[in-house]
Amino acid sequence: MARERSAAFAPGRVNLIGEHTDYNLGLALPFAITEGVTVHAQAIEPGGQGGATSAQASIEAHARDLDEHDEFPLAAPARVEGWRAFVRGVVAELARAGFPLVGARLQISGQVPPGSGLSSSAALEVALCLALIELGSTGPPARTRDGLDRIALARLCARVENEWVGAQTGLLDQLACLYGAVDTALCIDFRSLEIQPVALELHGWRLAVLDSGERHAHASSGYNQRRAECAQACELLDVPSLREADECAIAVLPDPLRRRAAHVIGENRRVRQAVAALSAGDLPALGRLLDASHASLRDHYEVSTPAVEATVRRIRAAGAVGARLVGGGFGGIVLGLFAPGVSPPDGARGVRPGAGAHLLDA
Ligand code: GLA
Repeated sequence: MARERSAAFAPGRVNLIGEHTDYNLGLALPFAITEGVTVHAQAIEPGGQGGATSAQASIEAHARDLDEHDEFPLAAPARVEGWRAFVRGVVAELARAGFPLVGARLQISGQVPPGSGLSSSAALEVALCLALIELGSTGPPARTRDGLDRIALARLCARVENEWVGAQTGLLDQLACLYGAVDTALCIDFRSLEIQPVALELHGWRLAVLDSGERHAHASSGYNQRRAECAQACELLDVPSLREADECAIAVLPDPLRRRAAHVIGENRRVRQAVAALSAGDLPALGRLLDASHASLRDHYEVSTPAVEATVRRIRAAGAVGARLVGGGFGGIVLGLFAPGVSPPDGARGVRPGAGAHLLDA
């Protein structure tokens, strides 16, 4: 018997440092945040004539924050745009991967504003995956994610972004969401997919994010173009990824490819330095690395905007020791690091590392 109900929570993420490195097989240092997306699922036909093979089974989804609905046949979701593309893509990719699914009514709610750079999309994909897999499973009730291959799940969610939403994003957001843990950042090596927990001890310092007010969508920003530029640089350098690129060799690249490669190589180095700074409890050094990362994203990778720059200035004016745009860029939030006793500007909110994606009591 499949279940009657299931529920799952998946967090958004803040990337402390290591931007646009994931699809270049480099390094990043994200953490899952305490806010995220919750999905409640109810089987439409409990016990199962609504199984994946049933032509009549359907998925009804309600996005509570938007008060919008979607309904589509489980066996053949058609392509659409907006949040519906994520739901349909997750259902299609889970079925394609062989997960038994049942017809379901989904209630989706969240505290991560879409397009803000906190990765609401990965949170949505992962929460949907966990809730739908659990609803369709017939074994004893699962309390944890044990038994699920989280790397495979992250790849499945990335396929949803790539093939259903049209954003050629990497695995950063999904891995942070699936592997996140309280008080912990994750040093991810995207070449080996090794994930090293790093204690995020701030000794009274605070991390806060301020929204630039500018929303982005990776599918329609310059994100895919940046990814294509990196691929072009690899071709010219004859290396499989920019992880393999030699810093001296990139001088032969034409502009802007040279600057794109310089960003990636420098950013990988900054991730290693940030891990060292955290281990040494040297928060001022972490602040300087955030500043250097932002300067490189602005000047080399060219993913900042006037609204993001104005937000960086506001955070700095409030006394942050370091600030940088977070996520793909072209809008979204700016992260600032504040010493004890220094208050983030009005409208900023504190972020701290929380638990990774998990099932909830349904
Ligand atoms: C977005 C993408 C990630 C990553 C970042 C930039 O968040 O979803 O895969 O590429 O941008 O670091």
